[in-house]
Amino acid sequence: MANLKTTYMGLELKNPFIAGASGYTANLDRIKQLEEAGAAAIVTASLFEEQIQYERFRLEEDLHQFDNLYAEMTGFFPQVKHAGPKEHLTWVKKAKQGVGIPVIASLNAVNRKVWSEWAVQLEDTGADGLELNFYATPSVFDRSSMDVEQEQIEISGEIKNKVKVPVSVKLSPFYSNPLHFIKNLDEVGVQGFVLFNRLFQPDINVEEETNRYRHNLSTEVEHEGPLRYAGLLHGNIQGDVCANSGILSGKDAVKLILAGAVCVQVVSTLYKNKISSLSNLIREAESWMDGKGYKDLGAFRGKMSAKNNSDPGFYRRAQYVKHLIKADYSS
Ligand SMILES: Cc1cc2nc3c(=O)[nH]c(=O)nc-3n(C[C@H](O)[C@H](O)[C@H](O)COP(=O)(O)O)c2cc1C
Repeated sequence: MANLKTTYMGLELKNPFIAGASGYTANLDRIKQLEEAGAAAIVTASLFEEQIQYERFRLEEDLHQFDNLYAEMTGFFPQVKHAGPKEHLTWVKKAKQGVGIPVIASLNAVNRKVWSEWAVQLEDTGADGLELNFYATPSVFDRSSMDVEQEQIEISGEIKNKVKVPVSVKLSPFYSNPLHFIKNLDEVGVQGFVLFNRLFQPDINVEEETNRYRHNLSTEVEHEGPLRYAGLLHGNIQGDVCANSGILSGKDAVKLILAGAVCVQVVSTLYKNKISSLSNLIREAESWMDGKGYKDLGAFRGKMSAKNNSDPGFYRRAQYVKHLIKADYSS
């Protein structure tokens, strides 16, 4: 039987399947079910800056300094009970004590001070690692991409200097050159790269002319972006790639490892097919390895990365051009 063990930013994992941050990892019973289904680690639902600021507003009643954030927050926090940051920390601590697998705590902040302060507090819960969720949607016109990236690099470096546990970043695919940005993060010591986050996009109901708040789950094609970057990064950075988005089957995970990822995070497939289905993904990857005669993940990780690929243009522009030239537009 194939050995599925892997190491992700220094954490020993029994297999490459991590349950990514979601509503399922915000609940102790569900986390235990994920462990039972074979998850090698979990990433907790993020602690959001809005949770922290909302608590502060209630205490300080000085709303003017965060006008924009407050306007957004009042829409959803009044309904959320027990959503304060202290409750979140207590809960992460319980999650860590409740399972035997590594627990990675996720933070999604906005202000620099909040990033550093709460990263330290999350480490104090006993979490095995941190995931900095750089989820941000552009909303202002006067900040350049360079400003945004520079700040994220500096925040990562600051946090790396303050905590002892390994630090990963979860990125969106919308950087002008993710390779350059990731290389810079790698240089400040980030040990894990979760590629990529899936952004919630706004939608409009044209009949009622109202906002739609949809909750779309991923489809399989979405792992193609992570696959490209896992392939391009393999052998070029110190940190580990943990692929995320659209990994719905064991074979999808195998693809990402062939490209160079050390592990994957899954969420949508758990929502679509129940938590228990995670064991099927693990079995599928294992039986693929057995069928191929691979004893462990190291035997094929990165075998099809850009460095090792028989077609050097596969991950690059040549693939795009070749595809367009070959395409049949007649039908
Ligand atoms: C219900 C739900 C809640 C989520 N909550 C978080 C979160 O708190 N923090 C985070 O970083 N990502 C969150 N995500 C994003 C997932 O962790 C993951 O990055 C995304 O769904 C892509 O993976 P998938 O294709 O396997 O679903 C959430 C996703 C869903 C569907």
